[in-house]
Amino acid sequence: MFAVYADAFSSDDPLSGLVVGERPDPVAPDGWTTVTVKAASLNHHDLWSLRGVGLREEALPMILGCDASGYDEAGNEVVVHAVIPSPGWTGDETLDPKRSLLSERHQGTFADKVIVPTANVVPKPASLSFEEAACLPTAWLTAYRMLFVQGGLTAGDTVLVQGAGGGVATALIVLGRAGGLRVFATSRDEAKRERALEIGAHEVYESNARLPVKVDAVMETVGRATWSHSIRALRPGGKIVISGTTSGPNVDDAELTRIFFLQLSVIGSTMGTRQELASLVTLLDASGARPLIDHTLPMDQARDGFAAMAKGDVFGKIVFTR
Ligand SMILES: NC(=O)c1ccc[n+]([C@@H]2O[C@H](COP(=O)([O-])OP(=O)(O)OC[C@H]3O[C@@H](n4cnc5c(N)ncnc54)[C@H](OP(=O)(O)O)[C@@H]3O)[C@@H](O)[C@H]2O)c1
Repeated sequence: MFAVYADAFSSDDPLSGLVVGERPDPVAPDGWTTVTVKAASLNHHDLWSLRGVGLREEALPMILGCDASGYDEAGNEVVVHAVIPSPGWTGDETLDPKRSLLSERHQGTFADKVIVPTANVVPKPASLSFEEAACLPTAWLTAYRMLFVQGGLTAGDTVLVQGAGGGVATALIVLGRAGGLRVFATSRDEAKRERALEIGAHEVYESNARLPVKVDAVMETVGRATWSHSIRALRPGGKIVISGTTSGPNVDDAELTRIFFLQLSVIGSTMGTRQELASLVTLLDASGARPLIDHTLPMDQARDGFAAMAKGDVFGKIVFTR
């Protein structure tokens, strides 16, 4: 079958290990099901994989992609949940120490077909297109959990979203607004700040600019480049929810003194549960809020999408279609 896969790693030139070609058809073991992929979306995770982060050499060649929407074996329209729990695990699968994401241990979604445990498909409502639904399993689910589960934010709270242009960040802005939050966002780029206002941010600022008020919570995916600013933006007792470190994990100043003195909470967040994905789908179906798609490409042009993401030249999600 057609597939986009990693054949080698390179931290300097991640696209050098990317192959657009053919891989064997998957065979679903007992308890698993085959999904015919209609759309899949690109995540920074796929670039990390090509850099050798989170993917082992022995696992190559590995079909990339965490997110997909398509048809299950009965022809139903479905969204694929990307978190694969270990056999027998019960409860919150994001807490399973042996969980993996599609494309880490099990082949990913940038292909004609993907196999997943039968519990890992969620019905897709007709109101969402395949392209929109393909944005949800990683970036949008991560944003949902950051805001409403790990962050515990409720209507009226003020939240700062760092790095407005990213897939997770645009999801945080749209979902935050839909959830009744007051949303501040930062971006290095003026055009992206304008776009952030259009999709629902109440106020936008340059990266690391001083804010007029302290916020209840910061949603952090940028890491080193914005960490200090995130800590300094919080009110006493505020919380920072972190799910990524795009600019690197090694901060110049961890701001430990402020963290204890202002009694701040630093909360990690990773993906979300199948139930949270189902809740996110329901929220979008009911509210009319929709994933922001930067552009859509046929999957055989996936290399162009990877190159755009590597340049940071993106506002929202890049979606591949079959
Ligand atoms: N833990 C999880 O479950 C999980 C799930 C999804 C994603 N993630 C992680 O979250 C991060 C974001 O993922 P994504 O798919 O949204 O990536 P993305 O679409 O590539 O977005 C990255 C954003 O980070 C900002 N940024 C990058 N370098 C920066 C710098 N030096 N200074 C300031 N801002 C910078 C940019 O915003 P501006 O250009 O607007 O400034 C950019 O739009 C990644 O590190 C990813 O691995 C984690």
